[in-house]
Amino acid sequence: MREPESKTTPTLAYTRSPAHKETNEAKAESRRFHSSSKKVRLPPFPNSWFHLAPFSEFKKDEIRSFKFLGHDIIAFKTGNDSITVMDAYCPHLGAHLGRDAKGRNNRLKNGCVECPYHHLTFDSEGSCVQGKSHASVPKAKVFTWETEIVEGLVFVYHHKDKLPATWKVSEFFRPEGNWSQPYMTYQGVHPIHPQDAAENSVDTLHFRTLHQFDQVDQVTEAVADRQHFYQTLHIGRMGILPKFMRNVPIYSVVKEAAVGVGFPMAHNRFHPIGLQVNHLVFLTPIDETSTNFWFYFQVSFSDVKVPRFMKRQKERLDRHLNEHVKRAVDRAVHRAACTALSPVFAFINSQDLDIWSTKSYCEKPIVLGDDGNIHLFRKWCKQFY
Ligand code: FES
Ligand SMILES: [Fe+2]
Repeated sequence: MREPESKTTPTLAYTRSPAHKETNEAKAESRRFHSSSKKVRLPPFPNSWFHLAPFSEFKKDEIRSFKFLGHDIIAFKTGNDSITVMDAYCPHLGAHLGRDAKGRNNRLKNGCVECPYHHLTFDSEGSCVQGKSHASVPKAKVFTWETEIVEGLVFVYHHKDKLPATWKVSEFFRPEGNWSQPYMTYQGVHPIHPQDAAENSVDTLHFRTLHQFDQVDQVTEAVADRQHFYQTLHIGRMGILPKFMRNVPIYSVVKEAAVGVGFPMAHNRFHPIGLQVNHLVFLTPIDETSTNFWFYFQVSFSDVKVPRFMKRQKERLDRHLNEHVKRAVDRAVHRAACTALSPVFAFINSQDLDIWSTKSYCEKPIVLGDDGNIHLFRKWCKQFY
């Protein structure tokens, strides 16, 4: 089983993998990233929302630097549920606002970013508010990127012309009921275009061949609803389970969806127990040759059928606990469930990654009858370029 390489998001602006070097290997990776056809290539950076990092990774006054769809950006927390993401270069003479060559991180001063070069200072809107060496404050502004925090995850909107977003992640992904925090099982960088990887969610055939889900039936037509693409599958026996569990009469109804190009996900409802699992995949291009991958999942017991006597016991216990303790117990139970389930999801993810990491984008695939809705998905994706 593939071990997660890292559970923390690396600062990518300065960590250049061998794929970034101008070598023959890098050129080969680049071809792989784009297309097997020399004439038709996927534009490298779709106009869509992309995951940046979990919000919990941002600490007070810390400025973090990232490489994001070919741009150098910095990000910092501005409150308990707010963040600023802005271009990394100072509009005066281009100093990096987040880091120097020795990897030393700049820090916020009174909630503002002070350029280390000539000390112009920018607020969380990107406006210059102070110029130490000048009597007046110059009219300068650093571009700030649109952000949204959903389920504790930071998303940033990218448009090639820096136009504002016309939709939000939360329009299509807002889990209702009591869900655990997303639990990260993997983060790593791979040479694959996000659309190519996201296509996996509508590739019905691979659920049987790669993941060994023995009974996979599509129960609804695929729906393309603005920036949301989804279809529902019925998955019966799972061949990956240990032998003694394969005949357990559990099946799942899975809503396979994509929210923009960088966020394929699956909502699983396991019957008859009622356990729900959201399997979240985030695909954020770093540059033209590599994409940052995250796999998370979250669980909900809201619809789990518990025997009446257990329900009564829980209600009795709840009466003696204050809200703070109840929330802590809730978090601990969710955490334990995620820890127990994580090897299953890590294994499924590793099966996909092993294929994705070396595949090429096939512009004109051979059509097999049970491929699923790949052609519809590709048509829907065109809106993001
Ligand atoms: S480069 Fe930033 S103040 Fe001069
Ligand atoms: Fe898959």
